[in-house]
This record gives sequence, C-alpha cells and structure tokens, in this order.
Amino acid sequence: MRIAFISDIHGNFTALEAVLKDIDQQNIDQLICLGDTVSLGPQPVEVLKALRERNAITIMGNHDQAILEPEKAQNFEITSHLIPDLLWGRKQLSDENFEYIHSFKPGHTVTLPNGTELFAYHGSPKSTTDLILPTTSTEVLQELYAGLTATVFIGGHTHIQMHRRHGDLLFLNSGSVGNAFKFAYSPGNPPSLLRWAEYAIVEQDGIFLRSDMRRIYFDIEALLERVRASSLPGADWWFRQYPSR
Ligand SMILES: [Fe+2]
Repeated sequence: MRIAFISDIHGNFTALEAVLKDIDQQNIDQLICLGDTVSLGPQPVEVLKALRERNAITIMGNHDQAILEPEKAQNFEITSHLIPDLLWGRKQLSDENFEYIHSFKPGHTVTLPNGTELFAYHGSPKSTTDLILPTTSTEVLQELYAGLTATVFIGGHTHIQMHRRHGDLLFLNSGSVGNAFKFAYSPGNPPSLLRWAEYAIVEQDGIFLRSDMRRIYFDIEALLERVRASSLPGADWWFRQYPSR
C-alpha cells in the first residue's frame, strides 16, 4: 500500500500541480491532505477543486478553521498581518467551497496491510496548532500520543519535513507543498521560503515500511505571474520570498 501525503498547500496551486504530476507517476493507492489548503496563496479555488477531483481524504488545518470562522482567527494562531489575505481568500470561495472545507476531518486512521496503525493529523493528534519538531521534548511528545494505539504518526503544520523515531513510534511530517520553510517558525522570526514543494509517500508492503520525503522543484515564475494577476493583499510578500536571480 502506497499513500501520498500532501500538506500546507496554502493556495499555491502552481506548487500543487507540480506535486500532483509527480504523484501521478508514483503508483499511489491513496491521497491524504493534512490540512491548510487555502489562505495566503493566489489560487484557493483551484486547490480545492483538485483535491475534490482526486477524492483526497482531507484533514482540517488551522488556516482552514480560520477561513471558516475568521472572527476566531486568533484562536487558530493566525497572526494579525495575515488577516487581509485570509479575508481575501474567503471572498474567492463559493458556498460549495465552504461546504467542502466543513467536511474536512479532524484526523484519520489508516490500518496498513501488516496491521500497523497510522494516524494522520494537522498539528498533532490533539490539536491543529501544536508543533511537532525534531526538537520537541520527549515529555511533550508522550502527552500528544497518549491514549492512541497508532504507532506511525504523520502531520503537517510546521512546514518542515521530518522523520523522527521515538522508541517504537515513528513521527513523520510531509513538509509543505506551497510554503516550504527554511527554518522552523518562532514568534518574531518570520519564515522564509525554499524554492521547492515538499510531500511524502509512506509505503507498507510485505516485510517493510518505508517513508519517502520528496522535494519537487516547481515553476516559481509561473507562481509569481499568478500572484501578479491576483488582487492578493499580501502579493509583495511572495515577491520578497523569490527575488529574481
Ligand atoms: Fe500551514
């Protein structure tokens, strides 16, 4: 069984297209999106359409929650300078788009062919806003998976790929399709972006379990063209991320 995990697309349809093109060549059985589909990027509607067409199992991210309830954006840890982009994103969406986002799941369990349980979420098994990083302490990790029977965990939210074994458990992060961060976010330390999209494939077959952290170089100029053509309030942020070289 081969599962592709994509996360944190953030309206960057150019990056998603490149990732889906790669996924199409990977003999995948299932596509799971770990949340943060819309907000920040210029093409939220196209992202939702692609996920729907491919029957992706989609998990609710904190940005998805915030686009449904912008008045509670702070509860979902959306910093105030991102609110204009969030509201712009809302304006692009149809009733059908909102209904689709409402259908996103809080988490999803997959039983792999050998009986191993994998649990997929956005931030952590407990919350869309928890960050699980390679530096997260053992004590905090233990609290986050307490009471769960899964032994393989995979999430997004940090925008940083991770393969971390913890005792007999495995914590994975598929990284971000639309906003791959150079370094982990921390307050007062604004993120800067890498020039590629990230996703992961988890495969369990016969006697092996394998995780494949993939990096896809996408057309930055095409993305910037789409940003330019949109009326996105935060357009300048995208141009600062990718200065011409
Ligand atoms: Fe995100």
